[in-house]
Amino acid sequence: MACILLYSRVAPSSYRHTRTCICIFSLSLSLSYICYCLLFSSDAIMQKPSDPTQNCLRLRSDGGKKLQQKSLYCTLPLNARGTRDISLHEANQSNASVNLNTVRNNTSDRPTPNNTGSGKFGNKKLPNAIIVGVKKGGTRAVLEFIRIHPDVRAVGTETHFFDRNYDRGLDWYRCLMPRTMESQITMEKTPSYFVTRETPRRISAMSRDTKLIVVVRDPVTRVISDYTQTLSKTPDLPSFQDLAFQNQSLGLVDTSWNAIRIGMYALHLENWLRYFPLSQIHFVNGERLITDPAGELARVQDFLGLKRIVTDKHFYFNRTKGFPCLKKPESSSSPRCLGKSKGRTHIQIDHDTIEQLRDFYRPYNVKFYEMVGHDFRWE
Ligand code: A3P
Repeated sequence: MACILLYSRVAPSSYRHTRTCICIFSLSLSLSYICYCLLFSSDAIMQKPSDPTQNCLRLRSDGGKKLQQKSLYCTLPLNARGTRDISLHEANQSNASVNLNTVRNNTSDRPTPNNTGSGKFGNKKLPNAIIVGVKKGGTRAVLEFIRIHPDVRAVGTETHFFDRNYDRGLDWYRCLMPRTMESQITMEKTPSYFVTRETPRRISAMSRDTKLIVVVRDPVTRVISDYTQTLSKTPDLPSFQDLAFQNQSLGLVDTSWNAIRIGMYALHLENWLRYFPLSQIHFVNGERLITDPAGELARVQDFLGLKRIVTDKHFYFNRTKGFPCLKKPESSSSPRCLGKSKGRTHIQIDHDTIEQLRDFYRPYNVKFYEMVGHDFRWE
C-alpha cells in the first residue's frame, strides 16, 4: 500500500496505473509464497517433535529396491538436530547394491502397489502385528489381502529385522514402516521369523502386545513347494530325495535340511509360547486360504480387532492361475493376482517318498494340533 501511495504522489499519471499493477502483482506473489510455506510446514507440525524417525524419507515401500533405499536412508546416523543428512543418503544411493546386504531385493516376492504406506500423514510406528511365518505357507497372499483394509498399512518387502538386522536397532526398523494414523495398524511379514530361535524373545522385548500371525500349510506340500522354489533359482540342486533323507531306505529323514525343519511346527511353536500366550497368535489355514480366502480373512480381521471390510466381494477365482485373485480396484484397469512365483506347479515326487514324509511329520502335526486346539487334517 505504501508503495501505491508513494507512486501516486511522485509519478506522472500515465505510469501510475502500470506501477500500481506491478505493486499488486508483487504483493500477491509474496502472499502465495507465504501460503505455500505454511502448507508444507503443516505436515511437519503434525508430527510429534520427539519422534526420532519423523525425518525419514517418504519413499513408497512397494518393492525391494525402494525398501533397500529406505533401509540405506534409515541407516544414516541422526545428527545433532535429530535429523538424517539426506545429501549423504543421496550419495550412498548409487552404492546401495554394494553396501546393503541386509534387506534382499526379493523380486520373486514383489508386492502389488496398493496400500503401501506412502501416506503423508501420521507417524511411523513399530508394527502392532507381524506375519511371522511360515515360508511357502501363503504369507504373501495374507499380507496382500489384509492390506486392502483401510485400517492396515504394511511394509511390502520382508524386513528381516528380528533375524538378520537386529543390531541395526529399533529406530532403523521403525524408519522402514509406513506412516499410520492413530487408528491404523502397522504390519510387516518376514516368514523366517517363525523358525529363528531368537525372534520370539526379540519381538516380545519390542512389545509383548505384538499380535502374531502364522500361515500354516501341510508340511509335506510345504517342503515340496520350498524345494520347487529353490530349484527354480538353483537348477543344479541335488534331488529332493537326496536332501530330504539321510537314508531313504531306512526312512531316515534329514532334519538338518532347513526345508524339512520348517515344517516341524510344534517345535518352533514351543519356543514362541515361552514369550507369547496362545491367544496372541493367530493361525491361518493355508489350504483354506486358497479355497475360501474371504473366510480366512474374516478371522484375521477379527483377530486384529478390525471391522470386517475385506469380504467375498474382493475376490474372484482366476481359472488360468488356479488361485483366488483380488478383483480390480476402481482406480485400476486390471485385477490383481499374486506373481508367478506364487502358485507354481510343483515338481513330481513319488508316492512312497510322500508317504515317508507323512509318517515323519505325523507326530509333530498331532502335537501341533493339540497345542493350538485345532485339527488341520494334514493327511
Ligand atoms: P506354491 O507356489 O507352492 O503353490 P508364501 O507367500 O508364503 O511364499 O507362500 C506361497 C504359497 O501361497 C503358494 O505356494 C500358494 O500355494 C499359496 N497361495 C495361497 N493363496 C494364494 C493366492 N491367492 N495366489 C497364489 N498363491 C497363493
